[in-house]
Amino acid sequence: MHEDTAPLLSIEGLHVSIGGREVLRGIDLTIHAGETHVLLGPNGSGKTTLLNTLVGLPGYDVTAGTVAFRGNNLLALGVDERARAGIGVAFQRPPAVRGVKLRQVMEVAAGGAIDPERVAAIAEEVDVVPMLERDVNLGFSGGEAKRSEMAQLLAQEPELALFDEPESGVDLDNIAVVGSAISHLLKGERASERPRAGLIITHTGHILQFVNADIGHVLFDGQLACEGNPLDLIDDIVSHGYEKCVECALCRR
Ligand SMILES: Nc1ncnc2c1ncn2[C@@H]1O[C@H](COP(=O)(O)OP(=O)(O)OP(=O)(O)O)[C@@H](O)[C@H]1O
Ligand SMILES: [Mg+2]
Repeated sequence: MHEDTAPLLSIEGLHVSIGGREVLRGIDLTIHAGETHVLLGPNGSGKTTLLNTLVGLPGYDVTAGTVAFRGNNLLALGVDERARAGIGVAFQRPPAVRGVKLRQVMEVAAGGAIDPERVAAIAEEVDVVPMLERDVNLGFSGGEAKRSEMAQLLAQEPELALFDEPESGVDLDNIAVVGSAISHLLKGERASERPRAGLIITHTGHILQFVNADIGHVLFDGQLACEGNPLDLIDDIVSHGYEKCVECALCRR
């Protein structure tokens, strides 16, 4: 359905090593504006590695392949340039930053200037009002850290939002808060919002109760082994485990 529109993100033949060990062994992935993709895969398969590589964190050595974002070479950009270009991330384990308040991070995420009323509205939406003047993530509970990540992404409004296990360690009430925030960000109810795209890593799929995802992928052994309806893939994995991905030659690309 997208043959004539340029992709937002285009990953081709991506190989990534960490400390000399190859973790990603040839990833091909295309994401168009407006699409929400889901990334599944067993522990240690390289899901976080893929996201951190896209964000541009140090230590992830791209040894082969290309990544284009809106047609431009993403790999040539630094971390801050990628954020300004429109890539945002909610980390699996967000780092604590002593001396930097959540409010300040939201201001930076928004590009330096943000209406205090908008900060207040976002903080209300994801229930981080009491944390705005605290050092970001320092002593935040697991659920608070995840909601803080959502606040930062809502302030940034990236064109491509990457979510690394947004529901892990989050209680059922807060999964609804986080899920609604993701849905809000990706589906863009506000008139000013541009069409966005998302890539969501999940083990359980709980978050998909709140987010309409379009395409699911299974990362197995450093490669994308399967592609399909995200809920069907999760059902399959629950029934058969990830080992099926080894046997499933049909959907192997
Ligand atoms: N800094 C690092 N130094 C050495 N090895 C690393 C480093 N970061 C990641 N790895 C290794 O790379 C592999 C992939 O890790 P990654 O965090 O991408 O997995 P994942 O699919 O996100 O797993 P999980 O579902 O447990 O979050 C693992 O074997 C991990 O130990
Ligand atoms: Mg991970």
